[in-house]
Amino acid sequence: NQPLSRSAEQAQDAIDNERLQSSIAALATFGGRPDGGVSRETLTSIDLASRHYLIEQARALGCEVMVDDCANLFFRRAGRRNELPPVLTGSHGDTQPVGGKLDGAYGVVAGLEIIAALNDAGIDTLRPIEVVAWTNEEGSRFGPGTMGSSAFVDPSRLAGYLDAVDQSRVRFGDALQAALDSIPGVPRCEMQRPLSACVELHIEQGPVLERAGIPLGVVTGIQAVRWFTVTCHGAMAHAGTTPMDERRDAMAAAVSLAQKLYGFAATHAADQLRLTLGRWQVSPNSVNTIPGQVEFTVDVRCLDDSVLDRFEAFLRGLAADAGGSVSLERFFQRAPTHFPRPMLDLIQAAAGRACAQAGLPAPMPITSGAFHDAMYLADHCPTAMIFVPSKNGISHNAAEATDPHDLFLGVQALAYTVTALANQ
Ligand code: GLV
Ligand code: MN
Ligand code: MN
Ligand code: MN
Repeated sequence: NQPLSRSAEQAQDAIDNERLQSSIAALATFGGRPDGGVSRETLTSIDLASRHYLIEQARALGCEVMVDDCANLFFRRAGRRNELPPVLTGSHGDTQPVGGKLDGAYGVVAGLEIIAALNDAGIDTLRPIEVVAWTNEEGSRFGPGTMGSSAFVDPSRLAGYLDAVDQSRVRFGDALQAALDSIPGVPRCEMQRPLSACVELHIEQGPVLERAGIPLGVVTGIQAVRWFTVTCHGAMAHAGTTPMDERRDAMAAAVSLAQKLYGFAATHAADQLRLTLGRWQVSPNSVNTIPGQVEFTVDVRCLDDSVLDRFEAFLRGLAADAGGSVSLERFFQRAPTHFPRPMLDLIQAAAGRACAQAGLPAPMPITSGAFHDAMYLADHCPTAMIFVPSKNGISHNAAEATDPHDLFLGVQALAYTVTALANQ
C-alpha cells in the first residue's frame, strides 16, 4: 500500500468545489447549446476560442504555457526540481458534434483546479505538474480519435493524420496549422518528452458506477477498438423505371451487410461486443435515384481483442464475397489497455480517502468502455484513470451530466494522486 503523503492530503483538502463548478460552467460557454449540451468539435473556431480562454486561465495561475506540433496545449506548474520529468494530468478539449459539458472538459478543468488549490495551500512539489488539453480525442470531425495523444507518444504518427479531411473537405493539417498560427506567442515543446506519470480524470459515460451507487471508479483498463469504413458500390438509376431485378442498388447491399454485422454482434452478446454503424453517406442522396454508392462507418469494441479478430475476419469475408462491389478500410485499431498495479493502488488510496471523508462507499475497479487519451499515454509512462458516475449512463449527448458532489470527489482524488506522484 502506498504511504499516505501529508502534502497529497493537503492538496485534496484544498480543492474548492464552488470554483470547480463555475470553471466547468465557464468552459461550457464555448460551444454552449440551448439544449444544455456543447458543440465544440476539434480545431473549429469555437475550439480555438476555448483554447485562448484556457491559456489565459493557466497564465493567471502562474503556469508556463506550451504547445506541441499536434497543437496539444500544456500548462506547467514548476517543481522544486524543474528539470525532472513532470506528472501530467488533463484530458481533451474537443467534443462530439453534439456533446455534453463534461466529456474531456472535466479532466482539463480539474487539472487547473488542482493547480489553483496547490497555489492556495502554498504547496510546492518536487516535480513539475502539467495540465494538458489534447487535440482531437473524439475523432468525429477528423478520424481517427486520440490523434493528439497518440502523436505525442509516437510523433511519426502525425504525418499519417495530416491528410484526414472533415465533411467539408478541410484537411486536418490545415486546421492544425491555423490553430498553431492563432497562438503565436506560445513556445513550442517536444512531443514524446519524458513524463514521470499520467493520470486522467473522466466521466464514466456508462451506467456501471451509478447502478452500483459508488461515486468513484479506479479504471483498470480500456477495451479494444477498431474503426472501419465500408463502401458499397452500385449504379445510379431511375427509381421509378428500373425493374427490381435489374438494379445495382448500393443501399440494398449496405443494408444486407449491416444486418449480417448486427447478427454477428448478437451472437457475441456474451462477449459484450459493441457495434455501432454511426455515419452514413449516400450518393447521390436523392429520393428518386437508386443509390450509386453508400459508405458507412463501423465502430466495434470488446475487452477481448480475439473477438475483434473474428469480427474483422467475418467483415473481410463478407466484402470478399461481394467481389469488387464492397471495399473496406480499417482506419483505427487499438488493443486493450491495462493500467499498472502501482498506479491503481495509489488511485485506490486517493479515491478511498475522498469517499471515506464524505461518508460514501469505497471506490470500485471498473474497465472503460470508451477510449481515452490515457490509452496511448500508457505506452509512454505509468498511467491511470479515475471515473465519476454519469447520470443514466448517458454521454455523447447534450443531456450528459454528473452529480456535482461526485465531480468534486473526483477532483479531490485526482489532487491527491497527482501531488503524491509529483513528490516521488
Ligand atoms: C471516445 O469518445 C470514444 O468513442 O470512446
Ligand atoms: Mn472523452
Ligand atoms: Mn467522447
Ligand atoms: Mn472519448
